[in-house]
Amino acid sequence: MHTSSPQPRLLVTRAIFPDVVDRLRQHFEVIDNPEDALWTREQMGDRLQGCAAVLTTPSEAIDGELLARSPGLRMCANMAVGYNNLDLPALTARGILATNTPDVLTETTADFGFALLLATARRVTEAERWLRDGHWTKWRYDTLLGRDVHGSTLGILGMGRIGQAIARRGAHGFGMRVIYHNRSQLDAATEQACGARYVSRETLLREADHLVLVLPYSAGTHHSIGMAELRQMKPGASLINIARGGIVDDAALARALREGVIAAAGLDVFEGEPQVHPDLLTLDNVVLSPHIASASEATRRAMANLAADNLIAFFTRGEALTPLNPEVLTR
Ligand code: DGY
Repeated sequence: MHTSSPQPRLLVTRAIFPDVVDRLRQHFEVIDNPEDALWTREQMGDRLQGCAAVLTTPSEAIDGELLARSPGLRMCANMAVGYNNLDLPALTARGILATNTPDVLTETTADFGFALLLATARRVTEAERWLRDGHWTKWRYDTLLGRDVHGSTLGILGMGRIGQAIARRGAHGFGMRVIYHNRSQLDAATEQACGARYVSRETLLREADHLVLVLPYSAGTHHSIGMAELRQMKPGASLINIARGGIVDDAALARALREGVIAAAGLDVFEGEPQVHPDLLTLDNVVLSPHIASASEATRRAMANLAADNLIAFFTRGEALTPLNPEVLTR
């Protein structure tokens, strides 16, 4: 008599597309969370018991303490390109494969970065609030004057795939002068394709009219932008954060926006999200969105499917499409 070996158990920590969960059920015994309940760490630890794999979103922290409680875990597939929610050294030390979802979200996230930049510079959400509140009684030459995007200087801090996609939009779509700062300078061909020039961090802060943050979050990038950096920027500049909360000191930013140190900000990510610093909520010169830069239907689907593909590839063939710690695969 043929007895099939039991399927590995997979914990899907949050609600994702049901058809992707169904696909995973063909390979795993899935414990999912269709109600999208927010589990405590304790509940997460309990559910991880006996699991060989976990599919996480950016909201769940997977750290050494949780891993110590989950001795059977072999893989963590994160449905995001950013993986600051994972303790990668701890995962690697335990021989647990980690994957993320790069590339599939690059253009969508860059589109949204530009949407925030335009909305911030041209005061789009403030204008809509003003109109809905019944203030529009006549055309006036000085109603809601904003700042130009075309022909201005676009600064990009963090020049990975998304930074480069934003640079291309700025240089080739809006005729912007594009400058960037990154841990390392891009090769000349890539710089040329992006229409971007490498500058020091100080020059970037001093010269950008619109500064977009696209760098990964880590202890080293925590509060990369605080009051000292904001004071180096132009009083007419805007700051756009589509990277991670914690890269900007949100309390300092709120103060800078109130005092006119810079003109405006567009924020998709926040320290301690989904909480938003209360001072930011009171300001008109900030555009706020709830961490949706990658949230087009097609892209969120592609992210979920890539996380699933990584899980299936590892458990069926011992491979991964986008590993974060590939050394684990050859151990
Ligand atoms: C990412 O992929 O890191 C995004 O922030 C999630 O939307």
